[in-house]
Amino acid sequence: MRILITAGPTREYIDDVRYLSNASSGRMGYALAQAALTQGHQVVLVSGPVDLKPPEGCEFHSVETTDEMRDASVAHFPDCDGVIAAAAVSDYKPRERVEGKLAKTGGPISIDMIETDDVLAQLGAAKGSRWVVGFALESQNARENALQKLRAKNCNWIVLNHPTAIGSLDNQIELIDDTGHPIMKWAGAKQDISNQLIQWLETNLPDSSRDLG
Ligand code: CTP
Ligand code: CA
Repeated sequence: MRILITAGPTREYIDDVRYLSNASSGRMGYALAQAALTQGHQVVLVSGPVDLKPPEGCEFHSVETTDEMRDASVAHFPDCDGVIAAAAVSDYKPRERVEGKLAKTGGPISIDMIETDDVLAQLGAAKGSRWVVGFALESQNARENALQKLRAKNCNWIVLNHPTAIGSLDNQIELIDDTGHPIMKWAGAKQDISNQLIQWLETNLPDSSRDLG
């Protein structure tokens, strides 16, 4: 299979030197990429800025903003059999990026923010016979929220994890299907979990998507 993986955080610039982002390390996405490569698949890795080396053998696309992640993902999805969206995409961006550097005002300021495009939702809407695996980071009503995201973004499955996973070497995940039930649970090092998730996908994908070759 040829698998598109999104990873890492995105950055949204306030001016030319300042941005809003999050603490994602990119480890889960990179571990999934490594797992897929080790198991003989091709990987297209679209990654926000992280401190990790892209796994050897993947097709690597470095991006910074959500718009760039969207463009790279939409461009490469048609050549892939499926996508795993592990990126911690910024939900908001400043309405305007100020040219140069904002000076201090001597008092509080507020920044007008608008929602970013949902990369996974765009891929889900265009999936055709491809498969789509999303991630959901939840601190409350976890399974319920994960199921809502699965439906809203047209995913086959969604990987539920907890905010403590951000920046950590370990993770605890549940794979949720379209009935909202956890069909698999894994805990441990992100690399071990990733190996098991890729293996699980390989054996449980619908035949129609595997036929794509
Ligand atoms: N995602 C995306 N583009 C966005 C926001 C999220 O592709 N602009 C993807 C993430 O990569 C993840 C899934 O959508 O696979 C769910 O992300 P999450 O942050 O848990 O959910 P949101 O839909 O952003 O909702 P909220 O943050 O409000 O819970
Ligand atoms: Ca979000």
